[in-house]
Amino acid sequence: MSSSIPDERSLVLIKPDAVRRGLVGEIISRFERKGLRIDALEIRTLDGGFADQHYAEHVDKPFYPPLKTFMTSGPLVSLVLSGDQVIEVVRAMIGSTDGRRAAAGTIRGDLSLSNRENLVHASDSTDSAKREIALWFPTLG
Ligand code: PPS
Repeated sequence: MSSSIPDERSLVLIKPDAVRRGLVGEIISRFERKGLRIDALEIRTLDGGFADQHYAEHVDKPFYPPLKTFMTSGPLVSLVLSGDQVIEVVRAMIGSTDGRRAAAGTIRGDLSLSNRENLVHASDSTDSAKREIALWFPTLG
């Protein structure tokens, strides 16, 4: 009998700038065309307390106050994606933090000119994916 390793999951946020700019469809389409599955999806506007929980490791950094203001400035789309090595695959697809320096062909490299309004967040490790999915989608099995 053969055993298979279940696909990984990643928590992805399509940030308020992407919603305002009408880029939700473009961004989700890239993930779908790659072959990733959408296991959960929701649109919501964050309050400050939830932003603090999500960005727990950054709350004391100097860039956090403007990041919090931005992330609570309007609706965002949260989703859980799954697929083979999805965490690494999605991080490669979104590109590096600063849209001005992100490689062409990545979401940020093609569509963002900012390190704050950079369109997308994605889990950066299995531990952060586990924590973030439990926070955003507590009923997901
Ligand atoms: S770190 O310190 O290297 O771990 O930070 P980094 O991974 O580069 O960024 C973490 C999140 O902070 C956002 N960020 C900023 N927001 C506002 N202003 C400035 N200057 C800034 N620099 C970084 C960045 O977009 C990351 O957001 P997420 O949602 O995690 O992608």
